[in-house]
Amino acid sequence: MSTASANRSSKNSAERVNAYDALGPRMKDLLDDERDVVAAMANFSALLMETFGWHWIGFYRVVGAELVLGPFQGPVACSRIGFGKGVCGTAWNEERTIVVPNVEEYPGHIACSPHSRSEIVVPIRDHDGRVAAVLDIDSSTLDDFGTVDVHALETLCEVLQPLFE
Ligand code: SME
Repeated sequence: MSTASANRSSKNSAERVNAYDALGPRMKDLLDDERDVVAAMANFSALLMETFGWHWIGFYRVVGAELVLGPFQGPVACSRIGFGKGVCGTAWNEERTIVVPNVEEYPGHIACSPHSRSEIVVPIRDHDGRVAAVLDIDSSTLDDFGTVDVHALETLCEVLQPLFE
């Protein structure tokens, strides 16, 4: 599957499933020997961006009582998010993946860009099972994320888990 078709794929489509299937081994190879979590998050977001071309793909790390912006691909974004705030802070608080089909209908959504229409946030746990970071993806298409994305992104994020101490 070409990058262009993956970019046009709709949620839960065979094209998107195929794109994730091809991405899995590439991500594993890319991060296999990397021990530095920042380097790993940087290449993780770059490979996802190359494949799907979403509006914004990146990480926020738990630092004390806040999420702090980590490696990302896309336009500038807010650098700090409080516990329980926005989609990211809620995913941290509730320790679960959150899919937002329409960001305008999500109470408390933090708008970093007017082009973001839908969003998915996946928490990443450390060795002790505590949330250490979240992966945040914004799409400029409404309702762009489904169960295929939830499952595939949660699985991809497992590659990063051992790198968080
Ligand atoms: N929309 C997010 C903020 C981060 S940006 O989308 C990059 C939120 O509500 O937590």
